[in-house]
Amino acid sequence: MLRYRAVILVVTAALVLSLPAAGEEITFVMWKPSQPEIWNRLIALFEQETGIRINREIGPHSSTAAHTLLTQKLKNQDPDLDVFLMDVIWPAEFASAGWALSLDDYFPAGERDDFFPAAISACTFRDRIYGVPFWISAGLLYYRKDLLDKYGFKAPETWDQMVAQALEIVAGEQTENPALKGYSAQFKQYEGLVCNMQELLLGNRGALVDLEAGTSLLHTRRNVEAIRYVRDAIIGKVAPRGVLIYEEPESLHLFIQGHAVFHRNWPYALGILNDPAKSRVSGKVDIAVLPRFPGGKHVGTLGGWQFAISSFSRKKHLAWQFVRFMTSDRIQKLFALDTAQPPARKSVYRDPEVLRQYPHFKRLADVFESAAPRPALALYPMYSNALQRFFHRVLAIPGMPLEESAGQTDAEIEDLLRLMREADR
Ligand code: GLC
Repeated sequence: MLRYRAVILVVTAALVLSLPAAGEEITFVMWKPSQPEIWNRLIALFEQETGIRINREIGPHSSTAAHTLLTQKLKNQDPDLDVFLMDVIWPAEFASAGWALSLDDYFPAGERDDFFPAAISACTFRDRIYGVPFWISAGLLYYRKDLLDKYGFKAPETWDQMVAQALEIVAGEQTENPALKGYSAQFKQYEGLVCNMQELLLGNRGALVDLEAGTSLLHTRRNVEAIRYVRDAIIGKVAPRGVLIYEEPESLHLFIQGHAVFHRNWPYALGILNDPAKSRVSGKVDIAVLPRFPGGKHVGTLGGWQFAISSFSRKKHLAWQFVRFMTSDRIQKLFALDTAQPPARKSVYRDPEVLRQYPHFKRLADVFESAAPRPALALYPMYSNALQRFFHRVLAIPGMPLEESAGQTDAEIEDLLRLMREADR
């Protein structure tokens, strides 16, 4: 009788373990998506296939604001947060704080080969991996092909050419479109400002930091030159001063309304721009690498989002099922086809169906291979905050002494770098 009971127990336990996790629920935190329909569809598909319910919490759109929301939960060791989207700049911080679960056991080295190396390296901290890349991004130049064609221009190589073309087109279109501006990008004080400015500085052969030496390089000649250019030739000239309070959505709005000749954004914007239901410039837009300064290279900042699992989740294995589903070949392809947004898996860029629909994916793959990462620092948010304050101050306040302000910020950043080195010892 006892033996009989024991057998029943073992069989029941085995059944429970192998059953789909019906009735289970996990909490997923993400920011406000620009294309919500596809997220709803994919989540519904996951729920239907696995029986696991996703309780989704939608945070703010901005990376900086989404970071605040998530880190509050993680600092509180909130056991109700299971899985979340992580910006490409967060893994060092989330790993060293013990917030993100190391995924080495779930996501072995062999399975990482199909993802862009830059995204894998961004998810890696001290030889362990903390995220699975979902999509990859890099800054691009969007332009009104119809207008450039009309004035006999090709996509500009340099920032000077961009400014000259913009001024000529805006002047020529005055009567037809008095609201037309030359350029729209993101210069609000938040993470996007760092992305935009890094592109400009590196495109003038500048550099933000020398991590080996522990020095911050804002005051160096090429950086100062590029910043001065943005202040004197771009903001309030080809771009309205309003860009100083623009994040991605506001800057895209100007362009999508047909009110800007050039626009800097991530690849996600292309699908929206070419959707006639949402855009006034559908079919009139093309993309190019961002302009450079003479002697510099074209630079797009590396962006992108990864799935990560909270160290405090009580449902890590269920969370992993969701991550594996969302980053699978099948879902990455579905997502790409639906949104025109480039996924992190390289195989999608060889898929004939995807290439037929989005021939520009081939070009994007090259841009991603050479995209410029932001410095990987455990205290990245504090570092970024110092940069944001500096850039915004010198761009927004007329007469702000540029070199002096750069020197002060360098000193502030060097203190921070020292602190991080000491904490590491
Ligand atoms: C995009 C990028 C992300 C970046 C953010 C800045 O979401 O993917 O990496 O930090 O924009 O606004």
